[in-house]
Amino acid sequence: MKLFADTADTAILKDLMATGMLDGVTTNPSIIAKSGRNLLEVIAEICAVCPGPISAEVVSADAPGIIAEGKKLAAIADNVVIKAPLTRDGLIAVREFTGLGLKTNVTLCFSVNQALLAAKAGATYISPFIGRLDDVGADGVGLIGDIRELYDIYGFATEVLAASVRHTDHVTKVALAGADCATIPPAIFAALYHHPLTDAGLAAFTKDWASTGQSIL
Ligand code: E4P
Repeated sequence: MKLFADTADTAILKDLMATGMLDGVTTNPSIIAKSGRNLLEVIAEICAVCPGPISAEVVSADAPGIIAEGKKLAAIADNVVIKAPLTRDGLIAVREFTGLGLKTNVTLCFSVNQALLAAKAGATYISPFIGRLDDVGADGVGLIGDIRELYDIYGFATEVLAASVRHTDHVTKVALAGADCATIPPAIFAALYHHPLTDAGLAAFTKDWASTGQSIL
């Protein structure tokens, strides 16, 4: 399963790269606004930091605008993935990008029907927003499982990218539901390493080892 970081913070991304755990990066207009950076510049920098797929989102609503913006974003680097919304125009643009051999991430997916249409348009990734579904009392993880089942029945190659991840249990649940990837906020990424019994066990081992007076090196 691929782990992506949901951030445009290049210092954090460099740190994650050093662990060998980072497979890609996703951004959206809100994340770019939070970074305070120029979109084209920060995407170029992220692409240089991480060789994996880097999602950069369009902001136009109409297909011609999405296509023009997507082509400009894709020209930044070979590993840019054009992120387009799950709308009629968005999927018309995705179909065009697919024909041009460009990679796409269809975002703001909240239903199996939407995921079906994205796969038919040739999307490289589909991004169901599980946290936002949970926020309105729906079942975000359940949607991941349903899309997995649908894609497996028909052999769609579109990868299921769980987005809007809010806590570590989301990562566990989408992994078990068959997501191909999850995009994770940095704080949650860091929390994946931790378990209180690991900390307690390590403290005990360290204390007992010190009592032996030995040294391995
Ligand atoms: C990533 O592709 C999404 O834009 C992001 O995960 C949305 O997360 P949020 O619902 O926490 O804003």
